[in-house]
Amino acid sequence: VFNKQYENILTARPEPGVALVTLNRPKALNALNSALFAELNEALRLIDADKEIGAIVITGSERAFAAGADIKEMKDKSFAEVYTDQFLADWQDLTSIRKPIIAAVSGYALGGGCELALMADILLAAPSAQFGQPEVNIGTITGGGGSQRLARAVGKSRAMELTLTGRMWSAQDAVAWGMASRVVEAGDAADGVLPVVREAVALAREIAAKSQVAVQAQKEAVNVAFEQGLSEGLRTERRLFHMTFATADQKEGMAAFAEKRKPNFTNS
Ligand code: CAA
Repeated sequence: VFNKQYENILTARPEPGVALVTLNRPKALNALNSALFAELNEALRLIDADKEIGAIVITGSERAFAAGADIKEMKDKSFAEVYTDQFLADWQDLTSIRKPIIAAVSGYALGGGCELALMADILLAAPSAQFGQPEVNIGTITGGGGSQRLARAVGKSRAMELTLTGRMWSAQDAVAWGMASRVVEAGDAADGVLPVVREAVALAREIAAKSQVAVQAQKEAVNVAFEQGLSEGLRTERRLFHMTFATADQKEGMAAFAEKRKPNFTNS
């Protein structure tokens, strides 16, 4: 996957254990067309299967993470077409990736771009990040999960206000409302890497150094909070917790603590 030339994305391994996927349609502000999503899904599937990789960063450009679904591609589609082709259904593939995904958002994250960021497990924002679900302004509604994930992330009243007006909101608001973890201040970009991307890669590296079985089970457990009711979610968490006792990494992690040494995880 790292040697492959894609047309709409770039793939790299900036640090051991970390995959960096950059959306790369700069002229269209990374508008998400079918070709881009097909490439993104393929790359993520290959990265998920790559034992050398423990965590994934998705980013865009400084100006735009992604300015939404490609309006020019979809504007003339008929109802029958979008319905029978299950238009956008493949966007959901991203949520079955086992490895943690960190979105590093700079500039516009609008419509489908905001929805893509909301599908990530962790969201870091540059001060320039501008989020928005402006679909109402072009006569349609959120189609990539925005109504559900935004409402879960920021609550009903804000989700309604934001989607019904199509207004943009800032990185600071995204953090204050619990949608993003934090704003990564613009610092010195001497190496040409945006601070938010550098920080996301460092975070991914930290996660990738842990037991991958534990990391993936932990991601699964937290995601259950957004899919199941509380008692069902707690039961799932306890089962996954018990499951870790069948792994070598749990034995190693706890033995290392008792012996006052660093654990040597084998992802088994
Ligand atoms: N689809 C297709 N092309 C897009 C695009 C999109 N979502 N967003 C930007 N572009 C293109 C523009 O058409 C323009 O192309 P040309 O140079 O060929 O004209 C290029 O990117 C640069 O954009 P602008 O000239 O408009 O740049 P700007 O700085 O003046 O404005 C912007 C930036 C405010 C982000 C503006 O481009 C904009 O409003 N974009 C559309 C945002 C939007 O409505 N997104 C929601 C899409 S619907 C959706 O996503 C459905 C869903 O839920 C899945």
